Amino acid sequence: MIISIIVAAATNGAIGQAGQLPWHLPADLRFFKNTTWAMPVIMGRKTYASMNKLLPGRFNIVITRNADWQQEGVVTAASLEAALAIAAAAHFKEAYIIGGGEVYRQALPMAGQVLLTRVHTEPEDADTFFPALDTADWQLISDEAFPADDKHAYAFNFQRWQRQNPSV
Ligand SMILES: NC(=O)c1ccc[n+]([C@@H]2O[C@H](COP(=O)([O-])OP(=O)(O)OC[C@H]3O[C@@H](n4cnc5c(N)ncnc54)[C@H](OP(=O)(O)O)[C@@H]3O)[C@@H](O)[C@H]2O)c1
Repeated sequence: MIISIIVAAATNGAIGQAGQLPWHLPADLRFFKNTTWAMPVIMGRKTYASMNKLLPGRFNIVITRNADWQQEGVVTAASLEAALAIAAAAHFKEAYIIGGGEVYRQALPMAGQVLLTRVHTEPEDADTFFPALDTADWQLISDEAFPADDKHAYAFNFQRWQRQNPSV
């Protein structure tokens, strides 16, 4: 199973603010949709709550410690490992970890690649963060820069990072 993290993080690592994204970047939402389409997407219950709907065209798996939590069209898992096992049992060869902070922290040591949208801002009121990638473990494979424009308040880069030592 290839475990891929997909995340948009500010220059200071910020990814969330009061349960929401700190920005609205339509190009990043499009990239997210195209990349994860038809794939299993694994998320924490708080990230699901922030969207408050399932992601269409994807196999939605929500991690929660609450055994009573359920939503129509969503598969519930009691741990990240259980979520990955569910995706594997459904014959997927790759799963996308889509957040949030608590789930990214647990998934990072297991992940083989990180699709990182680096957003060039430092939101002051952020409360959720993505860790810095250690270049001893992670190699930058591609990096595409986009300027701010009338639809995007901040410049951003689409980066693909690959684990250097997948056997570890
Ligand atoms: N910028 C981005 O790319 C991006 C992407 C996604 C989310 N976000 C942002 O991130 C924020 C949410 O992140 P967050 O860290 O607060 O929450 P989160 O990671 O989305 O969800 C945390 C919840 O997931 C469940 N959980 C986590 N680990 C578990 C485990 N090992 N076993 C069972 N359940 C587990 C628990 O749910 P229960 O409490 O139900 O037990 C926990 O409270 C929001 O602001 C959101 O907008 C940003």
